[in-house]
Amino acid sequence: MANNSGKKWWKEAVVYQIWPRSFQDSNGDGVGDIPGITSRLPYLADLGINVIWLSPVFASPNDDMGYDISDYRAIMPEFGTMEDFDQMLETAHSLGIKILMDLVVNHSSDEHEWFEQARSSRDNKYRDYYIWRDSSGVDAEGKPLPPNNWGSEFGGPAWEYDETTDQWYLHMFSRKQPDLNWENPAVRQEIFEIVRFWLDKGVDGFRLDAINIISKPEGLPDDPSVVPGKHSSSIPFVIAKGTKVHEWMHELNMETFDKYDCMTVGEMSATGPEEAVRFSGFDTDELHMIFHFEHMGLDSDPATGMGKWSYKPYQLTEMKEILNTWQTKLDGRAWGSLYWNNHDQPRLVSRFGSDAPEYRELSGKMLATVLHGMQGTPYIYQGEEIGMTNVQFPAISDYKDLDSINFYTDMVEDHQTMSPDEAMSLIYAKGRDNARTPVQWSAEENAGFSSATPWIGLNPNYRQINAAEATGRADSLWHYYQKLISLRRDELQDLLVYGSFLPLDAEDAQVYAYERHGEGGKLLVLANFTDQELERSYQALGQGQVELLLSNYADQEELADQGLTLRPYEARIYKIS
Ligand code: GLC
Ligand code: CA
Repeated sequence: MANNSGKKWWKEAVVYQIWPRSFQDSNGDGVGDIPGITSRLPYLADLGINVIWLSPVFASPNDDMGYDISDYRAIMPEFGTMEDFDQMLETAHSLGIKILMDLVVNHSSDEHEWFEQARSSRDNKYRDYYIWRDSSGVDAEGKPLPPNNWGSEFGGPAWEYDETTDQWYLHMFSRKQPDLNWENPAVRQEIFEIVRFWLDKGVDGFRLDAINIISKPEGLPDDPSVVPGKHSSSIPFVIAKGTKVHEWMHELNMETFDKYDCMTVGEMSATGPEEAVRFSGFDTDELHMIFHFEHMGLDSDPATGMGKWSYKPYQLTEMKEILNTWQTKLDGRAWGSLYWNNHDQPRLVSRFGSDAPEYRELSGKMLATVLHGMQGTPYIYQGEEIGMTNVQFPAISDYKDLDSINFYTDMVEDHQTMSPDEAMSLIYAKGRDNARTPVQWSAEENAGFSSATPWIGLNPNYRQINAAEATGRADSLWHYYQKLISLRRDELQDLLVYGSFLPLDAEDAQVYAYERHGEGGKLLVLANFTDQELERSYQALGQGQVELLLSNYADQEELADQGLTLRPYEARIYKIS
């Protein structure tokens, strides 16, 4: 039985997520690639991160930008070769950076050899690698009806009819992402071999894509939450009702991860802290940590029934409630992962801070302070460290993300339930391409990303917001991240990494304040989420020796006993001993 309660390298890590298509192009085709990543590793080493989570680099027809894999042991030719990969891994290791791969095994691509075989006939040996069912009947026109009412994540039914064999296959995501049948032991063996293949190559772990939906509810019953025409996804239903996920996670871990010194993090939407402890508790043999999504739903309006495709301003008190609950429930029981954004989410400053020029960096620093001050392993998404913002392309035809395109087609073209402007404004707020515009390296043509026109438009603000500018200026957001990362490494480790968490003033709707307690004293973290000046006082400031470790303003007031004034988006970390 594992005992993960002590010190571990993956608890002390700071992870940087790379989404390769938009990171760095090396060969002038407008598409980011592996040699491009290798060339930027010194930049990442300089920032101080020590683990990379690499979004998929495997062979893929790119229906869902690499999350639809057609060969788990091959590199996508657009990204380079296996030699390029080996070179990147070696260079990363020589710089003290580990690499996590993205394990996408809830589904494969429909262009994977297994699926091509499976769909060829009902008695093919690979048929049972996927989930096939008969029609539930026929409609008035005699057309076959799907086996149940499940909705896919990207709109429309979760079933696709296959004429050749007169059955339907299940796809919780796009129709080019058929779900693998984990009930079949041969499928699990294949997956174990793939994992071992990469671990034997020397990679340092995995981020497991959509891993809590691998077990489907017994008998595949209808999902009572599906509302026709509402773009309803049945993923939460599958998560709530699947029964075997822990059994299979345990098996996967014992057959693969457990035999290596590697790190694992599972992507788990619709999952609360108690369930997280079942997956990643210190004495379970499943995963090291999970990504939960509770704070990602704060700016959606449940009343619309539209999930992420709705908008309401988030409330700080709600954010605190969620994050504080995770901090306190996991403390001493399981390890958490900390993130504000990734390749599926809007840009951080635009979403939870302010992307107005005067506040963009200040609010970015403030948000970074809140996250990196918490217990858990922090993740930085490419471009976050320079404060990249959301983008607003003029037309839907400028967008590449199938989720956004399907949403627009469904709402505007097929059902006229939204005006084009309404749909575009939701895509501006929530669309995944916000995170997928090329990394802004410099003010040069194509932002230093490529010598050619990039595969997706650049954010036009790259002439002001770019890495060359940020690394060259001592008070930039980039340097602030560097400082936050280095704080975790030094003598503060016991407090900042391992210290326990104490929330303060839950009802304060403007300031996020909390303490960390550990050997050697405590930390007080303060963050003003508004553009107002605020007066506050904190007991801890009146106890013992108070030292300001970090702040996002250059000058500091003298502390007047326990009281202080927090300027717009001001953040501070005090050490009290
Ligand atoms: C995960 C990925 C997302 C992808 C989906 C299907 O949520 O992060 O990008 O579309 O799984 O693989
Ligand atoms: Ca390229």
